[in-house]
Amino acid sequence: MRGLLQSLPRWPSSQSEGPASSAMRGSQVTIKTPAQQEQMRTAGRLAAEVLDMIGPYVVPGVTTDELNARCHDYIVSVQKAVPAPLNYRGFPKSICTSVNHVVCHGIPSPDKRLKQGDIVNVDVTVIKDGWHGDTSRMYAVGKIAPAAQRLIDITHEAMWIGIRQIRPGAHLGDLGAAIQTFVEPQHLSIVREYCGHGIGQIFHEDPQVLHYGERGQGLQLMPGMTFTVEPMVNAGKRHVRLLPDGWTVITKDHSLSAQWEHTVLVTDTGYEVLTLGAAER
Ligand code: MF3
Ligand code: CO
Ligand code: CO
Repeated sequence: MRGLLQSLPRWPSSQSEGPASSAMRGSQVTIKTPAQQEQMRTAGRLAAEVLDMIGPYVVPGVTTDELNARCHDYIVSVQKAVPAPLNYRGFPKSICTSVNHVVCHGIPSPDKRLKQGDIVNVDVTVIKDGWHGDTSRMYAVGKIAPAAQRLIDITHEAMWIGIRQIRPGAHLGDLGAAIQTFVEPQHLSIVREYCGHGIGQIFHEDPQVLHYGERGQGLQLMPGMTFTVEPMVNAGKRHVRLLPDGWTVITKDHSLSAQWEHTVLVTDTGYEVLTLGAAER
């Protein structure tokens, strides 16, 4: 996801400043042609296939660095694609692995060994022939607590409730409002500082896709737009903290956090999800 507001200094150049600068220079939302949509379909399918591949390896005892290596090798050697995170604004690895109270942008490490009861988000973005596909899922490491499973399930449903708002003429605020009114009454909180994003030949482009908001507000959707929906939901309060490594985002109160992400195309009648996994197709 892309950083918003507090993290503006981390996105100093080019296409991904915050809302103020975005408003000042006008919207830079791109419309993909049918041929470009086909390229996005390919990139999206590859990203989803990486998540399908890695699932069986997310077990007690594995390190997040081992998951990174497996995904990297699969993307490069099997898919003949490029892992977008690697060296992106200095990110040192090929995927993000966010365990338990890590909200997003967790850096895979040989020191982070998964144990029974952990929950982990694996976030994969591939570039194929210059086009990006971005998707993430939650994985349970062995048997997990009911509260952790509930957080995972509600966050998954929140993503889909947002996606189901998408059609030409709908506003981005419809999507945010639908997610917010679903999540918050369940005594969970939505992270505000990071959001979904337009995606195409650029990893993070306009628009910013907030996971909260007001119906009827924000950009009106048009066929050919592509963006991600990727809500981050916390079991505790919504506030986050950036670790000194400059990437890892954690919940301030150390409560559990979950996230799911799909890349979506606005079609003439609604939406097409470009990153469906084998189980979802
Ligand atoms: N895949 C993340 C997203 O959903 C972004 C990761 S950027 C990285 O937008 F540099 F941390 F990899
Ligand atoms: Co994203
Ligand atoms: Co992502």
